[in-house]
Amino acid sequence: MSQIKNPLFLKALKGETVSRPPVWIMRQAGRYLPEFMVLKNKYDFFTRCQTPELAAEITMMPIKKIGVDAAILFSDILVIPQAMGVNVEMKNNFGPYIEFPIQSKSDVINLNTQNVEDHLNYVFEAIKLTKDALNNEIPLIGFAGSPWTILCYMVQGSGSRNFDKAKNFCFKNPELAQMLLSKITMITIEYLKLKIKAGVDAIQIFDSWGGVLSHSDYQLFSFPYIQQITAALNKTSPVIIYPKGCWHALSDYSKIGASAIGLDWTCSARNARYLTQNNVTLQGNFDPSRLFSSKKTIISQTKQMLNDFGKDKYIVNLGHGILPNTPVENVQAFVETIKNFN
Ligand code: CP3
Repeated sequence: MSQIKNPLFLKALKGETVSRPPVWIMRQAGRYLPEFMVLKNKYDFFTRCQTPELAAEITMMPIKKIGVDAAILFSDILVIPQAMGVNVEMKNNFGPYIEFPIQSKSDVINLNTQNVEDHLNYVFEAIKLTKDALNNEIPLIGFAGSPWTILCYMVQGSGSRNFDKAKNFCFKNPELAQMLLSKITMITIEYLKLKIKAGVDAIQIFDSWGGVLSHSDYQLFSFPYIQQITAALNKTSPVIIYPKGCWHALSDYSKIGASAIGLDWTCSARNARYLTQNNVTLQGNFDPSRLFSSKKTIISQTKQMLNDFGKDKYIVNLGHGILPNTPVENVQAFVETIKNFN
């Protein structure tokens, strides 16, 4: 593999000593960037995902403007249900919508897990174009949703506060749920292997809805599948696991060969270091809403966070995705504070 000029992110993933912690931002490609909004008004969401030139262009948008240390491919976790044969729409001012969500055993049996390379070819093309555009300046992150988080959308049919239908589906028929989760796991492993082959330098698994499960249900319906994915990939790529709202799983995640664990903003650095026994790099966890504070407050709270986590085994990020309408100059102040850290 060719040498990446800015080594901070990959070094932090290996737990190596760095001059300062690297920084990138979840959902950095989109939402708050005026040039993204221009494309958003011109092309619908999945057209942006499925057109490699557009996906690469959007991926590059925050690189110069914000100066992050890693890029994340513009795409979505819901391309996996699409590849499995589920029709997913992205409705304006509503979010993901599935007209025929998964309900029965035959629905699960009929789901496709074959030919990922063909179904998601546009993603691998977008990776190649983006790698060319990045010119080895910074690494590129590829991602997928966790099987549990993907099940949430496939069964609920849309976003939800508590994913009650998805939980009921699992609790009423755990065997069927395990079958669905295994199918999602299989295709996700295949997909992520192909992403690595196409050129991504690290993988992040988004368990954005892990936090709706109790600890014991998490052990049944989420953790084992993320563990399987991690084990299948960690010989060829660093793996970052982002289990939102799951502080109770941090200790388990520190023992399965992941390179880093992403934290939401409710967990203190001290608690996270304690639970992970400093075994693994931590990533996070500035509250995205705090980017609406004054620059003075952003700078002082960012410095505090850097002091709390320490310089090594740490990747600066937000605790979840950046919010729409976040002032770009505030994001720049956040990133500058990290770059000036010593
Ligand atoms: O930096 C980036 O933006 C990279 C691309 C990226 C998107 N989605 C683009 C997107 C990534 C990493 C995702 C992941 C994703 N998608 C997650 C996990 C991360 C998280 O935020 O928890 C989830 C749960 C989804 C599913 C999804 N996609 C939802 C719930 C929505 C609608 C609400 C929203 O976040 O705006 C989307 C749409 C989506 N995915 C948009 C973007 C830029 C906004 C819609 C648009 O641009 O038309």
